[in-house]
Amino acid sequence: MDDHSFYWWSKKLEERAGIVIPASRKQFLASNLNQRVHANNCANEEEYYAKVLEGPLGAREWAQLIDCLTVHQTHFFRHLPSVDLVQTLAREWYAQGEGKKRELHAWSVGCSTGEEAWTLGMILGTEAAAYQQAYFSVLGTDVSQPALSLARQARYDRDRLREIPSSYRERWCLPDDLGFSIHPDLRRRVAFATLNLLDKSAAPILSNLDLIFCQNVLIYMPRRTRHQILDRFAALLRPGGVLLLGPGEVMNWAHEEMTPVDHPRTLAFRRRERGKQA
Ligand SMILES: C[S@@+](CC[C@H](N)C(=O)[O-])C[C@H]1O[C@@H](n2cnc3c(N)ncnc32)[C@H](O)[C@@H]1O
Repeated sequence: MDDHSFYWWSKKLEERAGIVIPASRKQFLASNLNQRVHANNCANEEEYYAKVLEGPLGAREWAQLIDCLTVHQTHFFRHLPSVDLVQTLAREWYAQGEGKKRELHAWSVGCSTGEEAWTLGMILGTEAAAYQQAYFSVLGTDVSQPALSLARQARYDRDRLREIPSSYRERWCLPDDLGFSIHPDLRRRVAFATLNLLDKSAAPILSNLDLIFCQNVLIYMPRRTRHQILDRFAALLRPGGVLLLGPGEVMNWAHEEMTPVDHPRTLAFRRRERGKQA
């Protein structure tokens, strides 16, 4: 792959999918692209690009390419300080619901194969159980359709059980001969949908959220794009709602509606309550 071609493809990938491939990963891009060009019986990259622009089949192939180029690594209960903050917030919010309907809605952004969304569900579901009428929902979204189809299956290998603390494992996981599945009580409350974070028209399906959980997703994007996405997240939270990021997700982001949450080893911001000053 020559420099011109690398520049052209990396620009297209950034514009259409928000993915940044640094020059140091040129070989990685070239070999994945080459693989897709051959798998589609195309003579060269130009013919392949014309193909990905052609209707629904082209869109499917584009999704396949993005899937090869993005990192999907994930775990249950991946970042324990953030898990601890979610538990603290859920306790606080359900307790505040005295006399009102107790309801929490969370969004797992860039949820990959689902582990993060199930983790949030396990925590919210466990805290909700302390009350007679407490509800929650989790929406997991990702740009990768293959990852989402695994998330929807809600089935994982047995060795992944080790990632889940025993009390959660006992309540929410159903082991079988091959691995384990997520308990139907939780499956009823967690849904998955395809969403590209760069698609500005798609995010407003969500609003008034209690929690937006976004970890290891924006790190692949340029600074300006990250800030624009975070500004949009802020608008989707209810007053008092929290945006919980991965510790290295962003630097120097500030928003007039958002104040930092003080919780050890986490990066989180709370949307100001109406009428409250900083
Ligand atoms: C490394 S995984 C992180 C999974 C999970 N959040 C975690 O921390 O364990 C990054 C995920 O972000 C998704 N992603 C990357 N760019 C995206 C975009 N523009 N819109 C939506 N999802 C994206 C990838 O498909 C991938 O599944």
